[in-house]
Amino acid sequence: MAAVKWLGEPKSPKVALENLSVSYQGRPVLKHVSLVIPEGRLVAIIGPSGSGKSALLYALNRMNETLPETRTEGRVLLNGENIYAPGVDLQELRRRVPIIFPRPIVFPQSIYDNVAFGLRYHGLASQGRVADLVFESLRLVGLWDEVKGRLHRSALELTAGQRQLLCIARALALQPEVLLLDEPCGSLDAISTLRVENLIQELKGRYTMVVVTHNMQEAARISDETGFLLEGELVEYGSTEQIFTQPQDERTEQYLTGRLF
Ligand SMILES: Nc1ncnc2c1ncn2[C@@H]1O[C@H](COP(=O)(O)OP(=O)(O)OP(=O)(O)O)[C@@H](O)[C@H]1O
Ligand SMILES: [Mg+2]
Repeated sequence: MAAVKWLGEPKSPKVALENLSVSYQGRPVLKHVSLVIPEGRLVAIIGPSGSGKSALLYALNRMNETLPETRTEGRVLLNGENIYAPGVDLQELRRRVPIIFPRPIVFPQSIYDNVAFGLRYHGLASQGRVADLVFESLRLVGLWDEVKGRLHRSALELTAGQRQLLCIARALALQPEVLLLDEPCGSLDAISTLRVENLIQELKGRYTMVVVTHNMQEAARISDETGFLLEGELVEYGSTEQIFTQPQDERTEQYLTGRLF
């Protein structure tokens, strides 16, 4: 009997980019990008340096607007609603769609306060559930056993890998819907990289995630879908298996085989 690959029910789009163009100081950095991310999927965005990978992530929670002279055209739908519509609460948007940066951003505060920070910032601390959410998030990222005896010691005592996990815990405490990860292993050694990659895989299905990476093996290993950006253009977007084994565009193939820089 032929093997049937069961793909399950088609899931509803969690995020949809419709003809999204972004320019910084008059220079286009994203050009008419359209793509759909189904709920619970893990999408990798690959492409050379300067191709607009971070710009794409920033467009998903309107962080691009914190840069000077940014112009955004097109739409980004989150659960079918345009995040660029007038009146959207940006703080709430960034709670629902937090971003993790390449270098872990750890405040010179305790481990506990670093995770609780987001909850306090977003005004969620009054709900009396702060401690529960902090503990739960630390468990979720696999840091609990390492830090439970020193929650009130400085987070600066943690290693780079532990710090990145702490940042992910801070984001998860906010009970987000979409996690944006900009080269989350970019500043980590091989062992910490594996740890963060394993965590991302564990979180698969539970959250919709968009991961930017320079590491092709990482993209191939962890993602469901892959998008290839080149000079602000989404050259190709499809299942990770297809992109890595049968790219449809010559430029994708050249990039994956190291012939395009
Ligand atoms: N703050 C900024 N002001 C003006 N231009 C910027 C700014 N940040 C990035 N750019 C430019 O926007 C373009 C897209 O940059 P982006 O940071 O999205 O690239 P990237 O693919 O994430 O690159 P990398 O892999 O190096 O992180 C590049 O040409 C870059 O020089
Ligand atoms: Mg970048």
